[in-house]
Amino acid sequence: MKIENKEFWEREDIIYSQDKTVADTSNYEAYLYEKASSYFSKKNVKVKNAKVFGVGTGREIHGILKYISIDKILATDISENMIKKGIENIKTWKLDTKVTMQVNDATTFSGSKESFELVTLMNCMLTYVKDRKDRYKIFKTSYDILQPEGVLIGAVHNQVGTPQKTAFFLLRKILKPFLKNEVGSRVTGFYGFEVRGYYFSEKDLYKHLKDNGFKNIEIKSLSEYYKEVNIKYNRLKGYNNLIFFATK
Ligand SMILES: C[S@@+](CC[C@H](N)C(=O)[O-])C[C@H]1O[C@@H](n2cnc3c(N)ncnc32)[C@H](O)[C@@H]1O
Repeated sequence: MKIENKEFWEREDIIYSQDKTVADTSNYEAYLYEKASSYFSKKNVKVKNAKVFGVGTGREIHGILKYISIDKILATDISENMIKKGIENIKTWKLDTKVTMQVNDATTFSGSKESFELVTLMNCMLTYVKDRKDRYKIFKTSYDILQPEGVLIGAVHNQVGTPQKTAFFLLRKILKPFLKNEVGSRVTGFYGFEVRGYYFSEKDLYKHLKDNGFKNIEIKSLSEYYKEVNIKYNRLKGYNNLIFFATK
């Protein structure tokens, strides 16, 4: 069944699937948080404000705060029902004095200019922003709202992973001149719902970041990351997400 992005994320069953009330921080998320934290220490930057886009029910908040010392977090999501559940979670976790949760479409966010030291686009919220111009808006906004030397981190779906997925995008690359939409365009979603989404190539993610002003760009796939840290990972079976770090 076809469904629009916002409608999909408003559904109770979808929210339930995302609502991990335990603090589950994956090792690659911890890697990004630690990297940001050591960058801030080196630059002598105190993180007064952080901005989290596509926060869902707040799963990543624990992890971020565990690894980075932050005074205040502004977390937003396009889904009213996600934020409703997120506000409950934040209260339960006794983080409501530190964290503010608001409903907002990331493509229209316009915070006060240059007011955050850290911006996050965690676990594939960008997959659900199907149009390039909207993804560019999110990267541009992230850049604009960052303080000088501020950090952007995130994770996105990768065009390269399971053989089926890799072949699908390889074929689209070959057929590019005949396609109506971008090579990375693919139907995604779960529980039988089909949402039009976007999968990045490493080169294209670099372009999104570079074109919107970012520097010190580092991108790696999960298979590259796990190899570096000597953890067994079979990219033929996993998501092989791309993780990224960049600065203003
Ligand atoms: C896969 S969930 C990830 C949730 C959370 N960041 C995590 O890592 O667990 C993707 C989230 O992105 C949100 N989202 C999708 N499009 C969005 C948009 N244009 N602006 C803000 N949030 C969006 C969805 O509502 C959903 O909560």
